[in-house]
Amino acid sequence: MEQARQWRARFEEESPEAVLRWALSEVHPDIALASSFSMEDIVLIAMMADIRSDARIFALDTGRLHEETYEAAEAVRRKLGVRIEWYFPSMAAVEELERNKGLHSFRESLENRHECCRIRKAEPLSRALSGLRAWVTGQRREQAVTRRSLEVVEIDETHGGILKLNPLAGWTEGEVREYVRKRRLPVNRLHDMGYPSIGCAPCTQPVVPGEDPRAGRWWWERPEHKECGLHAGNAGGTVFRREGERKE
Ligand code: ADX
Ligand code: SF4
Repeated sequence: MEQARQWRARFEEESPEAVLRWALSEVHPDIALASSFSMEDIVLIAMMADIRSDARIFALDTGRLHEETYEAAEAVRRKLGVRIEWYFPSMAAVEELERNKGLHSFRESLENRHECCRIRKAEPLSRALSGLRAWVTGQRREQAVTRRSLEVVEIDETHGGILKLNPLAGWTEGEVREYVRKRRLPVNRLHDMGYPSIGCAPCTQPVVPGEDPRAGRWWWERPEHKECGLHAGNAGGTVFRREGERKE
């Protein structure tokens, strides 16, 4: 799309703050940050709150997050005075999944893992995005093979063609840490326990120094499968659809 190409060219070299300032001035309140309370997301919360104290932030509570993630969410909420819009999965869908397949079905097959991610993440994400014209994520190119060609400005075809902004796409982990240190932002304690990437507790384990940052996510799967449906457009990422649903 021509417009998207122009935005890409304009914002590729801009600072994350400049990208966010532009986006918030154009589309607030129809824009929100998706936060998993990783370091990246906390950096973006601080940047957005500097621009507008009422900038919107949402989080998907899958029901399987680490306690440390809830602690980070509370620390950020208190320190920066922001409001977090929490989303939960459908109670009926989770009850059905757990009654029929138990509590760890995601370890049994890729199909089961996708089913759990679809119920706990992808469906609540669709609700969070409905009515929005843009969303912001903390993804970085360095994080994964599936993210190497990530753009700062994307069009999210899986969610109705809305804007998807990844202002930190080109940042290194060092730059993220430096920003957090300078601003004295709260961090998720998991980062110092060997978790560079934060997901659900039963599907994430620590990595050893030098290992791929996402090696601890769904560690039993191949790297090209390590996306959970939130970022279905990523190279190698999977589009999560129910049986019978077709891509437009
Ligand atoms: S994931 O797709 O594998 O879960 P990852 O954990 O790397 O993604 O996070 C990338 C970005 O996705 C985060 O910076 C955040 O914008 C968004 N994200 C991931 N998990 C959540 C969540 N539980 N709630 C809201 N946003 C999330
Ligand atoms: Fe389910 Fe694991 Fe996906 Fe979380 S990461 S939604 S527990 S499969």
